[in-house]
Formats: sequence, C-alpha cells, structure tokens
Amino acid sequence: MARRGILAVTLAIAAGAAQAAPDGATIFVDLCASCHAETRLGGTGPALIPESLGRLTGEKLEAVIAEGRAMTQMPAFKATLSAEEIAAVAAYVATPLSAPPIWGQAEIEATRALNSYEVAQAPVFDADPMNITLVVETGDSHISVLNGDTFAVLDRFDTPFAVHGGPKFSPDGRFVFVMSRDGWVQKYDIWSLAEVGRVRAGLNSRNIAISADGKWLAVANYLPTTLTILSAADLSVAKVIEVADRRGTPSRVSAVYQAPQRETFVLALKDVPEIWEIATDEDGGPYSEGL
Ligand code: HEC
Repeated sequence: MARRGILAVTLAIAAGAAQAAPDGATIFVDLCASCHAETRLGGTGPALIPESLGRLTGEKLEAVIAEGRAMTQMPAFKATLSAEEIAAVAAYVATPLSAPPIWGQAEIEATRALNSYEVAQAPVFDADPMNITLVVETGDSHISVLNGDTFAVLDRFDTPFAVHGGPKFSPDGRFVFVMSRDGWVQKYDIWSLAEVGRVRAGLNSRNIAISADGKWLAVANYLPTTLTILSAADLSVAKVIEVADRRGTPSRVSAVYQAPQRETFVLALKDVPEIWEIATDEDGGPYSEGL
C-alpha cells in the first residue's frame, strides 16, 4: 500500500511539471496576435520574425516584452507573465517561420490604401519646396518636414514602424517616398503636407529607389526574395520579380539603386554572386526587355 501511494505522488508531480512548461505559441495567440497578427507578420504592431527582429534577441528581446515600450501601444507583460513565460514567447517569436509566406501581387494590392485629402495646387507654405529637409524620427515613428533654410517645422507626420534606407523624392520634388523595415511604402505630398497613401510591398525590406523618370519605385525585399515594382503615381503593383540566379537559387535583395544615365535599376544581391540591372523604360535596349 505504501509503495502505491509513493508512485501516485510521483506521477502527480510529473504531470504538474509538464503542464507548467509554458508554451510560447499559445501565449502568443492569447496575448500578442491581436496586434502582431497570428501569422507574426505584423498588424498595428510590427512583424515579429527573426528577419525583422535582427539583433533584438535573447535577454534584450525578453526585456522588451517584460517592460513594453513607453509611449507606444506595446504593453509591459511583467505583471501578466512569469519570467519563464516571457522566455517562452520570446523564443517563439525568434523562431523562423515554418514556411516562407506568400506575398505576391494580390497580397500586396490588398494592403494598398490611398487617403482622400485636399490636393494643393501650389505649396501650402512659403518655403522653397525644393529645399525641404526631412528628419526621420525612428524612435517614435514620425518624420518632421522642415523648411531647409530656416529649419522651421512645416509638418510632422507618422510613418510605419522602423523607417529604413532613406526617403526618396520624386524628380520634381513634389512627393517623397518612405519605406519601413516591414516593407511598407508610404507616399507623402510635400505641397499639400499630407500623406497620399501606403502599401506593403514586402514583408521585410531593405530600401527603395525611384526611376529617373519618376514613374516607378523599386522595393528591395529580403522576405520574400523579390523585387517589387510599384507605380509611383498610385502605389499600385506593376510587377513582382522573383530574384534567383540562373540555377534557380533564390536571393535576398540587399539594395536597389537607380542609374539615371542608363535608365535602369541596379540590384545588389545578398545570396548569389550576381548584380542585376533592370531597365526602367519599356524598351530596355541592350540591357534587358525592360519593365
Ligand atoms: C496592443 C497592441 C500590442 C500587443 C497586445 C503586443 N504588442 Fe508588441 N508591440 C506593439 C507595438 C505598437 C510595437 C512597436 C513599439 C514601438 O514603436 O517601438 C510593439 C513592439 C514589440 C516588440 C519590439 C519589436 C522591434 O522590432 O523592436 C516586441 C519584441 C514585441 N512587441 C513583442 C510582443 C509580444 C511577445 C507580445 C505578447 C506577449 C506583444 N508584443 C503584444 C503592440 C503590441
């Protein structure tokens, strides 16, 4: 009898221990998915995948979850979750996605949102519209628009989370395009001091370039391994180019630049030893078939 009693107690402890091991995926769905999306690709909060977290790993990652981010929607979880639970959900978001997400023309188009705003016929301010200075405030996701002569603030607008790779101006200086780490491209009308709209051209992206004629935007993506070509006019998708070498090995795009004299985009590739050049007019001449 005594023996049986001991056995029962041991089993009960083992069962208790198994239940207590926190499951990061469950915690994520319960407490994080409402803002970061169940797919972890982002919603009102940014994408939580290794590609986007970058060097935010281990204890630093756990600290963000425990403490939250002051002045943002990111709550502190140290009162809700134990240290083990925080570690479990941190490990979960640091795990690569099991399958590469599909992010083609249809998915990109579905995110495109254009604002209705009063479109100015001339700049709504006195400053020289060709001498505008932008201050990118990554910490709290804003850009300040300054008069380049006096540094007076003309406007301050909110951007997607983690703006990356330098804003690009249209050739006439009227519009500026901004890209974020999570692949959002935002168009802003400098004359009107208003956002035109935004679209998510990639899931994790490096930078953008604008063609010399101002018609096209190229978005260099890490995830998926594509180059997205957008119409600069309305941010609609012109083309999604799969990037892979001649043998079919896919590559992330480290950066895209415009070569104005050649009327091309030049791509630096991360995973294969190739450089690509894509003509930006319809007749690509000797380089390629063109867009
Ligand atoms: C109410 C919405 C909301 C909820 C719920 C939420 N987050 Fe966040 N989270 C955000 C926002 C917004 C940011 C961006 C904060 C900023 O601007 O720095 C963020 C940022 C983060 C970051 C930093 C990302 C980076 O690249 O800097 C991590 C990590 C994170 N959240 C993890 C979590 C985890 C894990 C949970 C669930 C336990 C969670 N979040 C729940 C809104 C939320």
